[in-house]
Amino acid sequence: MRERLLIPKEKIEKRIEELGREISKDYLEKEPVLICILKGAVYFAIDLTRHLTIPFVIDFMAISKYSGSSSGVVRITKDLDVDIYQKDVIVVEDIVDTGLTLGYLLRNLRARSPMSLKVCTLLDCPSRRIVDIPVDYKGFEIPDVFVVGYGLDYKEKYRNLLDIIVLEE
Ligand code: IMP
Repeated sequence: MRERLLIPKEKIEKRIEELGREISKDYLEKEPVLICILKGAVYFAIDLTRHLTIPFVIDFMAISKYSGSSSGVVRITKDLDVDIYQKDVIVVEDIVDTGLTLGYLLRNLRARSPMSLKVCTLLDCPSRRIVDIPVDYKGFEIPDVFVVGYGLDYKEKYRNLLDIIVLEE
């Protein structure tokens, strides 16, 4: 496999700082619940919180795809510890690709009647989208490539890379 640098760490750090400032401005006087989707979004979510100047609550959700399923129906393997009823919620994702996973998750979260529900993703790959997902905050738009690093993995490897790299055959 060949590796090609797509987004260097300096650009990632700068963009996350900007997103943190933007979210802090939009949620002034509020206390949003950030929902980090395990495991890929952990690095992004934690770094994002370092740039928030508002109070917030962070919680985690883990999901697992049914093998061979392409419907987007996922199993929640770790649910939230907090109740999001009437709360301002921001789902933090590593990448929105087909949108199938997030589409399912948003339907599930909407049923819990939050006050508001927004999506913040580090990477957005609109050319692979199957389900229309409203992305409110995005770090970078990327082309149709397979990326690793900054939390994203290939068979659990590469998560700790500081840059985002394209893996090619
Ligand atoms: P979706 O349901 O197709 O939007 O995929 C969402 C999940 O698949 C992401 O949260 C990632 O965990 C994983 N994923 C999608 N594209 C990539 C990629 O290019 N590299 C690594 N993981 C990916």
